[in-house]
Amino acid sequence: MSTGVPVPFHVPVLTRFRREFGEPAVVVRSPGRVNLIGEHTDYNHGFVLPAAVDRGIAMAVKARSDRRYVLHSLDLDRRLEGNLGELAPYPERWPNYLLGVIDQLQRAGHSLGGFDLVYGGDLPIGAGMSSSAALECGLAFSLNELFGLGLNRLTMAKLSQAAEHSFVGVKCGVMDQMASLLSQKDHVMMLDCHDLSCRFVPFRSPVKIFLCDTQVERALAESGYNQRRSQCEAGVALLQKYAPDVRSLRDVSLELLDAHRAELDPVVYRRCRYVIEENLRVVAACDALTSGDLPAFGRLMNQSHQGLSKAYEVSCPELDVLAEAAAALPGVLGARMMGAGFGGCTINLVQAGQEEVFVHGMAPAFARIGKPAKIHHCAPHGGTERLL
Ligand code: GLA
Repeated sequence: MSTGVPVPFHVPVLTRFRREFGEPAVVVRSPGRVNLIGEHTDYNHGFVLPAAVDRGIAMAVKARSDRRYVLHSLDLDRRLEGNLGELAPYPERWPNYLLGVIDQLQRAGHSLGGFDLVYGGDLPIGAGMSSSAALECGLAFSLNELFGLGLNRLTMAKLSQAAEHSFVGVKCGVMDQMASLLSQKDHVMMLDCHDLSCRFVPFRSPVKIFLCDTQVERALAESGYNQRRSQCEAGVALLQKYAPDVRSLRDVSLELLDAHRAELDPVVYRRCRYVIEENLRVVAACDALTSGDLPAFGRLMNQSHQGLSKAYEVSCPELDVLAEAAAALPGVLGARMMGAGFGGCTINLVQAGQEEVFVHGMAPAFARIGKPAKIHHCAPHGGTERLL
């Protein structure tokens, strides 16, 4: 008989591992993340405000006596085996997050042995909650424990990011990996992507985080993402001619940008302006959170959405409908698209006590986009941890 209590998501992973391989040596929980504000700022050396959440991936591993890896995805019901000495990106995407991490570890000179691995979780795939970073960071953490590599969390985050660049082909920033590995329960992380320093801001306030899932496949995400990055770099390259100290958009003020507007491609100008303004919003949002001014925080989220939709152009009609409908509901402090964009989820800050109003109030918006209502509640959680 069901007790109604959800089964922790590592239990099926453990059961499967034991059936296939015996007792695991290490079991790790690696979380997904939300980002409250600061989108597309990380690869521009700016500020972000993410938090790991109470959903993620569990991974069980054990060393083998040979040099083979066996990767088993429980949710996809797929398995891939190979030799540690012959790594290359796989034609299908799912194992590449893992193969990329193995490759980065070996390139950094770490000597790995073969291993068996089973993983699975409760993160919606493709919803923009960073299932990819959860996988990469989970494997880096697991192998670090299994083979005693002595890596710290910061090193694991950078290495996981590099894995995504090299084996997946997405030139992502480091926010997702930092959030997955370094978050603290009941806090959000104010991360400065210039020097990777972080400050943790308490998040136990009377607000709840809800994600509304557009269920739109992020078809354009990769090419659009890499293109946005190049456009920002084009802006920096031009400004460097006049201000040689500029290394990234983090060093560019609105005044400097505007002084050279005429020489910048109009699209590049719009992208750069959005990034500079978004950085200012993250700083203001952090102050608002610290001083308990949640309505101000919410207004900044709404402005962030407008910038992402109109200036950075990474939203889509479904995200716009869900964000705008939410922002108009009573009890909603702020709503915006979250993550890379082109689909995925909106993030909504809802006053405690207004949860039901929110869920019911979003029904017409889901009907407008022609999708069944799919709303996830999540809470800030600690970073990657060893369970066994
Ligand atoms: C994806 C990337 C991150 C970040 C966001 C947008 O999640 O992996 O590095 O750039 O998009 O803020």
